Amino acid sequence: MAQLWGGRFTKETDQLVFNFNQSIGFDQKFFVQDVKGSMAHVRMLAKQGIITEEERDRILDGLSEIARDVATGNIKITDTYEDIHSFVEANLTARIGNTGKKLHTGRSRNDQVALDMRLFIRDEIDETALLLLGLLETLYRLMGEHEHTYMPGFTHMQKAQPVTLAHHLGAYFEMFKRDHRKLYSIRERMNVCPLGSGALAGTTYPLDRDYVAKILGFDKACDNSMDGVSDRDYVIEFLSALSVTMMHLSRLSEEIIIWNSNEYRFIEIDDTYSTGSSIMPQKKNPDIAELIRGKTGRVYGALISLLTVMKGIPLAYDKDMQEDKEMTFDAIDTAKGCIHLMNGMLSTSKFNKERMETSAKQGYMNATDAADYLVRKGMPFRDAHTVIGKLVLTAIGRGVQLDELPLEAWKKESNLFENDIYDAISLKTCVERRKTKGAPGGMEDELKLSAGYLKTAKETAKALADRMKL
Ligand code: ARG
Repeated sequence: MAQLWGGRFTKETDQLVFNFNQSIGFDQKFFVQDVKGSMAHVRMLAKQGIITEEERDRILDGLSEIARDVATGNIKITDTYEDIHSFVEANLTARIGNTGKKLHTGRSRNDQVALDMRLFIRDEIDETALLLLGLLETLYRLMGEHEHTYMPGFTHMQKAQPVTLAHHLGAYFEMFKRDHRKLYSIRERMNVCPLGSGALAGTTYPLDRDYVAKILGFDKACDNSMDGVSDRDYVIEFLSALSVTMMHLSRLSEEIIIWNSNEYRFIEIDDTYSTGSSIMPQKKNPDIAELIRGKTGRVYGALISLLTVMKGIPLAYDKDMQEDKEMTFDAIDTAKGCIHLMNGMLSTSKFNKERMETSAKQGYMNATDAADYLVRKGMPFRDAHTVIGKLVLTAIGRGVQLDELPLEAWKKESNLFENDIYDAISLKTCVERRKTKGAPGGMEDELKLSAGYLKTAKETAKALADRMKL
C-alpha cells in the first residue's frame, strides 16, 4: 500500500478499506493529464521562487522520464498505489530523491484531481466534437446525393406527406449540429483552472495561478477556491450533452432498423455493419443500430448517477466526488464509440431510391395537395378537405391511388377539377412545390446553410487544436 500520508496514524489501513478507498483502478486514465498539470505547477513554483530552477529542472526531467516509461510500458501503473497522484509522486521521489518531495508544495490532491478531471474532460469534449463533425459531414454528403430522392414522411408512423431523403436526413443534421454547438458552449464555460485552490482555501505561498492557467490553455484561474475544488457542473453538462446526442443516435438507429426491415427495405445496411443468426441462415441483423439504441441507457445512467452523487455534498471537497469518474469514463467511451459507428454504418449503407419512391406514391399522401388545388381555385380549405376526403374514400373503395381516378370521378365531387389536377398531385410537384423555408422543396438553401456550418466548424476545430499545441 503506497499512500501520500501516514504521519498521524499508528496503525496500517485495513486491506479492505484500502481497496474500497483506492481510485488508481480508474483514475490512471488521466495519467497524462496528471503529469501535465504537475509540470505546469513546478514551472510556476520556480518562477515564483518557491523552489529553485535546478529543483524545477530535476523534477521536470523526472516527470518526463516517468511519462516515457509508462508510454513504452517500462513501468506499469499498479494497484499498490492509492491513486494516480500517489503513483506519480512516489515514482518521482524514487527516481530523483528528496527533490521529488517538493512537487506537492502549495497543492492538494483536491485541486490536483479537480485539474486532472477538467483537463481530461476538455480533451474529451474536443474529441467528441470532431467525431460529431465527421458524422455531420457524412449526413451532408448524403443530403447532397439525395436532394431529389422522394420518400414518405410519417407522423404517428403513418404515411403523412412526401418528403425527400435529403430533408429527412437534414433533420438529423440539425440535431447533431445543435449537439456539436453545445459542446463548444460547455467548453467555454468550463475552461477555468482550479489549480491553486489548495485543499479548499487556497494557500499561503505566493502562487501565480493565472500563469498556470495560461500554460495549460485555460482562459483564467477560477474565482473561488471552494468552488474550484468541488465544481463538477461541467462534467454534468457534458454528460447531459452526451445523453441528448445518444437520444438522437437512438432515434436514428430506430429509423435505420425500420428502414432496413424486410417490410420496408428503404436501406440495406452493409455486410460489414451487420451480423448473422446462429440458427437462421437467412438472417442479417441490424445489431449495431440496436446496440446504439440500447447503450443510450448507460449514458443516461451516468448523468443521473453524478447528479445524485453531487446533490448531497456540502462544501468543499468530500470523497463522494471520487464517484464522478468511472461512470463518466464509461459514458464518454460509449457515446464516442456510438457516434463513430453510426457514421460508418450510415456511410456504407445503400439507400433504395426506387423502394422509397414507390412507397411515397402509395398511401394518399398527395391528399393535402389535392385540397390545396381546390383552395387555389377559390374553395375554402375546410370544404376542400371534405371533398378530398370523399375522393380518398372512393379511391380506397376502387383499390387505386388518387392519381389513378378518372377525371369524371373528380368532377363528381367538384366542378373545379380539370386535367391539370394530375400534375398538381404528382409526387414531384408535391415535394418540389413545398418551398417554404426549411421545407423539402427548398433544400438548396438548407444545403448552403449546412455547408456554411461545416466550414465554420472545421475552422473552429483547427483554431482550437492549434491553441492546444502547448
Ligand atoms: N481520488 C480522489 C478523487 O478522485 C482524489 C482526491 C483525494 N483527496 C482527498 N482529500 N482524499 O476524488
